Amino acid sequence: MAKPIVLGVLASGRGSNLQSILDAINSGEISAEVGVVISDKPEANALKRAADLNIAAVCVDRKQYKSQQDFEQALIKQLQLYKVDLVILAGFMRILSSYFVNAYPNKIMNIHPSLLPAFPGKNAQQQALLYGAKVSGCTVHFVDEGMDTGPIILQQPVPVLADDTPESLAARILQQEHMIYPQAIKFFVEGRLQLEGRLVKLLSK
Ligand code: GAR
Repeated sequence: MAKPIVLGVLASGRGSNLQSILDAINSGEISAEVGVVISDKPEANALKRAADLNIAAVCVDRKQYKSQQDFEQALIKQLQLYKVDLVILAGFMRILSSYFVNAYPNKIMNIHPSLLPAFPGKNAQQQALLYGAKVSGCTVHFVDEGMDTGPIILQQPVPVLADDTPESLAARILQQEHMIYPQAIKFFVEGRLQLEGRLVKLLSK
């Protein structure tokens, strides 16, 4: 049997997207394994979720490193140690430079809580509300050197309601994140994502 694809999940906080991916693996939906969960924050709940399931949980604290490149080198070292094939950014709240991106070309995915290219960066749900958007949503994309600019894999729209707060909109978008992130990873694992320039084509089975 072919060796399963190993995921390395980078997360800064709560880890609900990590959980949705673990659930999809456990149910047999995705044929992969999470080799390591890495956080830049020692207190991240994502690390606790991983440790509770006996998954390697590693903190690479930005404060311990002189430069961004030293920090990214330490991340890459851990990913290599655990033989990671695909890097999954799941609420990882740091920008990664081209140094990191070039170490895993077209092998880094991110989820963002808006319909990119609208509302990149921080507080995407609040940006959508302040702008007066009537629809927002979430996007899974490959990571390139820009901020939330990489090739789009999947998107799911979510209506913005008149009485939404950033929190209520974020919660509704999050439900959809938990559907499309495992789906995008499944497509990758099945070898169905083909890049042509910045277009991601979904190959049929
Ligand atoms: C998610 O909403 C994710 O889309 C967002 O952070 C949250 C993490 O939640 N990511 C970004 O805003 C990246 N720019 P989680 O820790 O429960 O998965």
